[in-house]
Amino acid sequence: MEGIVKFLSSLLYYVEERGYPFAVAFKRAYRDNKPREVNSNLLYEYSRRFLLSYFSLPSVKKRSIRVKYWIEGKHDNITFPEWMEESLKNFVNLSLLKESLKSKVVWIRVNLLKTDIDKVIKALENYKIEFSLDKDLYYMIKIEKSKVRLSALDLVKEYKVIIQDKASSLVIEALKPEYKDKLIDLSSAPGVKASLYMMLTENKSEIFLTDIDFSRLLRELRLLKKSGVDMDKIHIIHQDSSRNSLTKGDKVLLDAPCSSSGMISNDPTILIKLNREKIIRFSNLQKRLINEAINIKAKELVYAVCSFFPEEGETIVDKYYDLLERPFNNYSSGYTSFKSGILTNRTFPHIDSTEGFFISKLNLEKL
Ligand SMILES: C[S@@+](CC[C@H](N)C(=O)[O-])C[C@H]1O[C@@H](n2cnc3c(N)ncnc32)[C@H](O)[C@@H]1O
Repeated sequence: MEGIVKFLSSLLYYVEERGYPFAVAFKRAYRDNKPREVNSNLLYEYSRRFLLSYFSLPSVKKRSIRVKYWIEGKHDNITFPEWMEESLKNFVNLSLLKESLKSKVVWIRVNLLKTDIDKVIKALENYKIEFSLDKDLYYMIKIEKSKVRLSALDLVKEYKVIIQDKASSLVIEALKPEYKDKLIDLSSAPGVKASLYMMLTENKSEIFLTDIDFSRLLRELRLLKKSGVDMDKIHIIHQDSSRNSLTKGDKVLLDAPCSSSGMISNDPTILIKLNREKIIRFSNLQKRLINEAINIKAKELVYAVCSFFPEEGETIVDKYYDLLERPFNNYSSGYTSFKSGILTNRTFPHIDSTEGFFISKLNLEKL
């Protein structure tokens, strides 16, 4: 017990004082205060649940007191801060959402540029991993139960499978990738969606990848190379896309920088660090970016964010109502109290077992 208290207090330190994302904070705490006799996979899940209960903990400064309070089971509820409850209560069933966050869903994408589905199925069976094949997207697999850490598998290290949420694949599906496409991706790093685009077009399309963050672009280059993408079809542009330099393509993707509130299940530190000001800042940046995106001469634009907040979704595309075309009929609409709601899509952890994404599609030929 003392070991766990030390470990979780140290995890909390790295989150509160250093602002590290969950995976990094966990690694540091594990390095500094590794508890004895605990399986690291279980400890990771335990830590995730602990951080999701952050706003249920007593408001005392001493971390070990808060940790002990949680361990004694006095409060294991997932609580959102008040401002967030207020912002979302009219749009999302918050009790179902919170309940669903308690179990983390992991999706993998079979990378058909490097392997095939049968080989991956066989390998997962050999590892005794429980999984189910997705009904909609033939290359997506939902991991139901695994005693091994997925990131430690050779399949993952060799980029034969990519750990990627199904909703992130839906963003690319909304663009209906075609062989001859020239895609402009205005905020592309670390390249997970771009690599799926190349997979679905069997390396035949051409992508112009931009991002403001140079080190993330370097990571993207590495990911694309390792995942078997034909690098002759890839063009990298380091730019601030709110002052975009690309003028012409077939399709445009704006998977915009956002609050990432849709992925708090995966990284509960997002919940801890989120506030209203951040949402407004992202919303303003998203307005600037979409304003640039619609000026590109192209057939269509997909605008998506991994966020539950309408300020980053419906509010952004309401202005372009006349251009909207609903991407999917078999997924929930956006929030229907907004004009754009019925013509856009949302995915939810408690409905789709995915991250919370907003996905919209604008027909630029109507401009
Ligand atoms: C949601 S992530 C993109 C994820 C990516 N599409 C993928 O699937 O791997 C948002 C990206 O936007 C980039 N970004 C933020 N502000 C930007 C700007 N003004 N111009 C271009 N990129 C920006 C961030 O560096 C980040 O890599």
